[in-house]
Amino acid sequence: MATAENDSGARGFTGKRVLVTGGSRGIGAAIVRQFLDAGAEVLTTARSKTSAVPEGAAFVEADVRTRTGVKAVAEAAQEALGGVDILVNNAGGARPFRNAWDIPDEEWQDQLDLNYLASVRLDALLTPEMRERRSGAVVHVSTVAVPTSAPAFLHYTAAKAALQNYSRGLALELAPFGVRVNAVSPGRTTTPGGKATRKQWASLAEGPSQDDTSPPLGRDGRPDDIADAVLFLVSDRASWLTGRNLAVDGGEFPVG
Ligand SMILES: NC(=O)c1ccc[n+]([C@@H]2O[C@H](COP(=O)([O-])OP(=O)(O)OC[C@H]3O[C@@H](n4cnc5c(N)ncnc54)[C@H](OP(=O)(O)O)[C@@H]3O)[C@@H](O)[C@H]2O)c1
Repeated sequence: MATAENDSGARGFTGKRVLVTGGSRGIGAAIVRQFLDAGAEVLTTARSKTSAVPEGAAFVEADVRTRTGVKAVAEAAQEALGGVDILVNNAGGARPFRNAWDIPDEEWQDQLDLNYLASVRLDALLTPEMRERRSGAVVHVSTVAVPTSAPAFLHYTAAKAALQNYSRGLALELAPFGVRVNAVSPGRTTTPGGKATRKQWASLAEGPSQDDTSPPLGRDGRPDDIADAVLFLVSDRASWLTGRNLAVDGGEFPVG
């Protein structure tokens, strides 16, 4: 029978140094908890600490939309972990508008900073050491909504589309050094951020809700569904897998 102990042994995370952004709730908190259960040392970050940050994880308060915030996270990783073997860029989120033309310029910048450039900047600080060591793994958390380009979320999906494109390019660049880079694209997942965003969207939408159908597998995602995919992608079981974007969405969309 699989137990947390023998499963984590098989996954081989004991002693691995892991940085997960956005681990104070939702998907990030599930990723942090799964890594801790699997024996890893984990640092996580958010703008403020909540009781949902799993016990046992080191925490640094930072806003990853800014260069200063990203630098503070990288420094904290050096201090708390002595380096990073596995980097999960998970912090992100969306704020819907009624139409794409209602999205103000500063919101476009904000979404690019949060959902795209935060990852680019953190990777730039942490992957050189992985390259030198010739080992490491990076995951970028995107969204399965990229191909839909819904006007209410165009700033968000455009930023996540850039993230997917960049993730693939970084994977190609780092592959010769034994560093793997992949993306995970969640479908509709029950998290505090996801619920708040869908509530905002529903209050903006005219006519029937655009968000009332179940994915083919009959339920919305749970944070652990996404965490399972992240842990797989950075594990040795995925050692011949790089540059990919794994949709975890209950079969919601034909592409991912
Ligand atoms: N839930 C879904 O249905 C869904 C679907 C597709 C993709 N995703 C993606 O999955 C990831 C996690 O989403 P979630 O649903 O778990 O969201 P969530 O419940 O809102 O959690 C987001 C986490 O990111 C942190 N964060 C947000 N802005 C930040 C900032 N500027 N600096 C540092 N940390 C920040 C939050 O903490 P603070 O707010 O305290 O900073 C929190 O820890 C995101 O990238 C999201 O785009 C989610």
